[in-house]
Amino acid sequence: MTNDKLLMTNMNILGIESSCDETSVAVISNDKLTANLISSQDFHSKYGGVVPELSSRAHLQIVIPLVKDALKKSNLELKDIELVTATAGPGLIGALLVGLTFAKGLSYSLKKPFVPVDHIEGHIFSGFLMNEKPEFPYLTLVVSGGHTLLILVKSFTEMKLLGSTVDDAAGEAFDKVSKMLGLSYPGGPQIQNCALNGNPDKVEFPIAETKGKYDFSFSGLKTAVLRYVQKNYSGDKSNRNIPQQDINDIAASFQKAAVSALIKKTEKAIKNFEVNSVSLVGGVAANKSLRDAFSGLCSKYKKKLVIPALEYCGDNAAMIAFRGLTLFNAGKEFKLDYPPYPGLKIEHFS
Ligand code: KG4
Ligand code: ZN
Repeated sequence: MTNDKLLMTNMNILGIESSCDETSVAVISNDKLTANLISSQDFHSKYGGVVPELSSRAHLQIVIPLVKDALKKSNLELKDIELVTATAGPGLIGALLVGLTFAKGLSYSLKKPFVPVDHIEGHIFSGFLMNEKPEFPYLTLVVSGGHTLLILVKSFTEMKLLGSTVDDAAGEAFDKVSKMLGLSYPGGPQIQNCALNGNPDKVEFPIAETKGKYDFSFSGLKTAVLRYVQKNYSGDKSNRNIPQQDINDIAASFQKAAVSALIKKTEKAIKNFEVNSVSLVGGVAANKSLRDAFSGLCSKYKKKLVIPALEYCGDNAAMIAFRGLTLFNAGKEFKLDYPPYPGLKIEHFS
């Protein structure tokens, strides 16, 4: 665990995440993260994407053993838990229902408070799991499989959405380009690996202009890669013959364009808002090339950069437990009929 003191609290907090294809259970005890167990549903890769029904069933099978393991690792028993948190959305409804309903049941039987957590807010504050924490106000770029959001974070309860993608999310673009190149799901790590041996200047892919000052667009880039592949290689999408070196070059060129697009809008926001820190979060924040580009950007503008360790970039319950705690500390109360939701709750960010 890389974190030291999280927030002054002596509570024992249980966090559950089940929004997509990772089941995760975390425990914060005596102000320390004592467990963050993550079980990834790798079997989706053979279908080329997440199959919602299979995801729900897998969450159902693993959630109880994971809770038991997380408690054991933390030297706690169920009765010691004082606050129960779980992801309420955005995500796959069937998948969310598993973790959320389980958490509500625990809260009811233990007679302890329950805090539903927004998954995106979990990512936004995931930098606080690190020793070096973001300082308010800070700028966050959330880059995940479903969302690309640039957010000004003023405090634990005040956030302003500056921009978002007008079409595909950054992670979605990595996943789709990976598929076009015949690579497996999830595409981000595959593209990153191939790009290591590729020439990023081989193909000049476009960076889209958007109407909104801080908005992003990745569908033009994705289509440009598709056109390039269709034009230069025979076969159809299930069987295209692309030499490995060409795959590496296309991956590197695509990655360069995607990273440039993300950097461009973040730089604009750094210039226009007085911020103390910058934080890069979400699954795509695992990307080495993006992390390096953010390092360069923050050195240029002398801003403190916080990028979570890899285990807190992808979906994890540590960020859910932490976000739940900040809401609880802010005096927020929630009822047990709080529903799961599939899409972004825009009102949380304005
Ligand atoms: O945050 P996350 O784990 O799940 C969602 O909430 O969506 O993000 C998953 C996304 C996927 O699109 C995956 O391809 C991408 O993160 N990803 C990466 C890398 N690792 C994961 N994208 C680029 N480079 C990576 N190394
Ligand atoms: Zn996520």
